[in-house]
Amino acid sequence: MCVSLNSFFCVACNCSELGCGQVVQEVESVMGLLLPLLLALLSCLIGGLYLLGVFRRHRPGEPPLDKGLIPWLGHVLEFRRNTLKFIERMKQNHGDVFTVQLGGCYITFLQDPLSFGAFVKESREKLDFRPFAKQLVQRVFGYVAEGDDHNFLQVSSNKHLKGEGLKVLTQAMMDNLQNLMSHEIGSAADQSSWKEDGLFMYSYNILFRAGYLSLYGYTSSQSEVSEEKAKEKDRAESEALFKEFRKFDQLFPNLVYGVLSPRERLEAKRLRELICNTLSVQKMKMKNNVSGWIWDNAQYLEENGMTESMINRYMFVLLWASQSNTGPISFWLLLFLMKHPEAMKAVKEEIDKVLKESGQEVRRGGPSINLTFEMLKETPILDSALEETLRLCVAPVITRVVLQDMTLKMADGREYIIRKGDRLAMFPYSAVHIDPEIHPDPHSFKYDRFLNPDGSKKTDFYKNGQKVKFYSMPWGLWVSMCPGVFASNEMKQFFPSEC
Ligand code: HEM
Repeated sequence: MCVSLNSFFCVACNCSELGCGQVVQEVESVMGLLLPLLLALLSCLIGGLYLLGVFRRHRPGEPPLDKGLIPWLGHVLEFRRNTLKFIERMKQNHGDVFTVQLGGCYITFLQDPLSFGAFVKESREKLDFRPFAKQLVQRVFGYVAEGDDHNFLQVSSNKHLKGEGLKVLTQAMMDNLQNLMSHEIGSAADQSSWKEDGLFMYSYNILFRAGYLSLYGYTSSQSEVSEEKAKEKDRAESEALFKEFRKFDQLFPNLVYGVLSPRERLEAKRLRELICNTLSVQKMKMKNNVSGWIWDNAQYLEENGMTESMINRYMFVLLWASQSNTGPISFWLLLFLMKHPEAMKAVKEEIDKVLKESGQEVRRGGPSINLTFEMLKETPILDSALEETLRLCVAPVITRVVLQDMTLKMADGREYIIRKGDRLAMFPYSAVHIDPEIHPDPHSFKYDRFLNPDGSKKTDFYKNGQKVKFYSMPWGLWVSMCPGVFASNEMKQFFPSEC
């Protein structure tokens, strides 16, 4: 053995002596080099397999685990293709609490609406939204969050989108809607022909542009020859921005789950840069009537030393949050009302009454109507129709990161151990919105579903004889909940302006 080894290596070291010491030394030094390399390879392999989730096993006390067949990706492709179908299938297989692997993450879905309180009550030391949000905005918008910007966002949203700033913003939205719509009608009349567009694109376009101008401000008429020129510039810029935003919109879902093709990834990057440039702080400083919400957030980041390009990316995050849902939901509201004449009649009568009380009326060719902040509080029927639209059309996945090992306590006494590093999520669309026990005949549009017989807002909904506190959740929940009042006002203003 020794001879054959030596003779073999003697050729390699050019030495004719059998058993030469140099050969033994070289064998040792080669082994000395190879061993760490092999160990490094082995640990990489084990680490890789660990990351792929190969070693994850169900432990006693944990929810049922379903990793899917594809390492690391798990069920992400099916989840992306049809979230509702996937969640329903998992629920059928595993019950109302289950853990699945989605793109390298282990996510436990809690689908019992009576236990949603556990999600809300858990402390931020155990369940937090921020790490998830940070990761998401970095992946999608390239924004690297620093310090307490999320806290500041909530403070500024409470002030400008719910509190004292809401009245000003609602009025700005009304003016912008009227301006854009009357211009569309005016230009169609000039050409003595109707302009045709799909209802979806029309609703999305008008809502997006009016919302954008209300939040991000107008071109200053001093920097243009005339006010009309400034308005024209805003209309053209908002139209161009909408087109780019729509392209990004279509890439968004796959961007979130990191399943874009290389070409799509490049396109997403190009669009992001273009949109950030339009929203840049430099340009914003030249504008008039920038909303307090946008202005305060930009100022806060600037004062905290964030680079300009990063602030521009944050401006895109806020554009995304504020504009990606309102247009599509306004389309659905309009469509449902058009398809349900009894609902349309009830809503129109309510609006007419409110307008009449303020001395206005909707008249073809008459003056523009002004549905003010105060008047929008007097429309319970429209509120119910909007809430019904949101119930049927909005399907958020509400997600938290698990920061410590924790026990999930269900309303019926069951308990589950949830691991640190996993995520806890719920999909209220299937758990609540279309549960026939909570909302009978759940797939039908019933404009008065959220109204009591006396016309007040209905909040009593039941499952298994118990009151369901979270009976509709289009705005999310608790710490990450949408400051949705401004959004509701925008959509409510669009409907009568349109009709
Ligand atoms: C139909 C329209 C809208 C819908 C359905 C909607 C829905 C939601 C949902 C579900 C969340 C929570 C996301 C999560 O938990 O992961 C959210 C968060 C948020 N939305 Fe909206 N939204 C709408 C319009 C708006 C508008 C118009 C604005 C601002 C002008 C806005 C600003 C925000 C902000 C700032 C957050 C983050 C809240 C936080 O993390 O504290 N949204 N939205």
